[in-house]
Amino acid sequence: MDFSLTEEQQMVRQAARDFAQTELLPGVIERDEKQEFPTRQVQAMGQLGFMGMMVSPEYGGSGLDTLSYVLVMEELSKVDASASVVVSVNNSLVCWGLEAYGTEEQKQKYLPALATGEKIGAFCLSEPEAGSDATSQKTTAKDAGDHYVLNGTKNWITNGNSADIYLVIAQTYPEKGHKGINALIVEKGMEGFEIGPKEQKLGIRGSDTHSLNFNDVKVPKENRIGADGFGFKFAMKTLSGGRIGIAAQALGIAAGAYELSLKYSKERKAFGTEIANHQAIAFKLADMHTQIEAARMLVYRAATDKDRGENYDLSGAMAKLYASQVAMDTAVEAVQIHGGNGYVKEYHVERLMRDAKITQIYEGTSEIQKIVISRSILRD
Ligand code: CAA
Ligand code: FAD
Repeated sequence: MDFSLTEEQQMVRQAARDFAQTELLPGVIERDEKQEFPTRQVQAMGQLGFMGMMVSPEYGGSGLDTLSYVLVMEELSKVDASASVVVSVNNSLVCWGLEAYGTEEQKQKYLPALATGEKIGAFCLSEPEAGSDATSQKTTAKDAGDHYVLNGTKNWITNGNSADIYLVIAQTYPEKGHKGINALIVEKGMEGFEIGPKEQKLGIRGSDTHSLNFNDVKVPKENRIGADGFGFKFAMKTLSGGRIGIAAQALGIAAGAYELSLKYSKERKAFGTEIANHQAIAFKLADMHTQIEAARMLVYRAATDKDRGENYDLSGAMAKLYASQVAMDTAVEAVQIHGGNGYVKEYHVERLMRDAKITQIYEGTSEIQKIVISRSILRD
């Protein structure tokens, strides 16, 4: 597969690289410490077209391909994975889901503001008793004629407080199992919709994660996405693309940790020479570089599958499984290469190590990716 980048893709990547250095890097340590959402930076990314990268220009988006999107995710994540997860959720879970399966009215109403970052989206599938086991939805959306009545709790919702538009998965016909689930568009401020407290997290601390409570929230029928009972398939299809975005986030975290380690090992001296001259350190760099290149191939492959209209369930799951492992391994080794300095905030690698862990958990844990991969290879 040819991954040579077009001039446009190279320009988009450069724009993201510049933005990460000039706008995300300053203050990234403080935002992590204070668990502060990058409000100004998200607005700026909206102006640059990063919040609706794959949305068609007809709905206010940038009309770019998935490969351009992963290039941007990679560059942003090298510096600030809290900011990049906002981009990932908005692009691949919310905008993509709406554009692929929404009605014309829904697209006209919601996409332009989401694609420009004026409004932010959230994707709400997980519940206290339905994480990996996502078909066990307890949140209910009872059919009440011209509207649904939504009741229940969602857990761990990224952009939980900052979002304006929430795609909520809920059970309408429990007797039908996953075929009775619907996906509804819920707006902040609807009566009975409450945002729970912010989670205190290990990593991606600048991203706001909240539980959400729905108490008899009336959601108009025209806010249902797709046919009655399509909600679970909607979630699965949307997550297949989302996993490519998180794989790119993991790749970026790994690449960021590697670049910092390469630089540091050429500067720091021990035993009369730069530590890079010690083979133990040089071999760590060799392993990091090799694994990152392999992860990059998988991520670009999955993005290219999506751009070519081919099935990307398998390639996306493999990319996420592998890139997230590489992110974790690389970040841990980066801390080691930095020695004591690796353990303090100003050298950034301890944050990358904390941020890397989430890529093995959200949008389907590594164990769930193995279920998706093994089912696919055994079926085919
Ligand atoms: N595309 C379309 N349909 C799909 C699908 C896909 N990729 N994957 C599954 N389905 C369909 C199946 O075909 C099946 O439908 P039929 O009965 O009509 O054939 C239906 O969905 C149920 O599938 P399974 O029988 O395979 O269901 P399961 O209970 O065994 O679970 C699972 C499958 C893959 C484990 C799924 O539950 C899963 O993905 N779990 C992980 C949940 C997850 O990723 N959550 C992420 C939340 S969002 C998030 O995390 C965002 C963030 O952090 C930033
Ligand atoms: P569980 O499902 O309870 O899993 C616990 C352990 O058991 C895991 O190791 C898991 O891999 C393993 N396990 C479970 N089932 C199996 C099996 N069948 N075979 C083998 N192993 C298994 N969700 C959203 O809907 N929207 C969001 O925006 C969102 N953002 C998140 C942000 C953060 C910071 C976090 C922490 C989570 C977020 N999530 C979000 C939720 C996330 O997707 C879930 O945490 C994840 O899917 C795992 O679910 P769980 O936490 O319930 O773990």
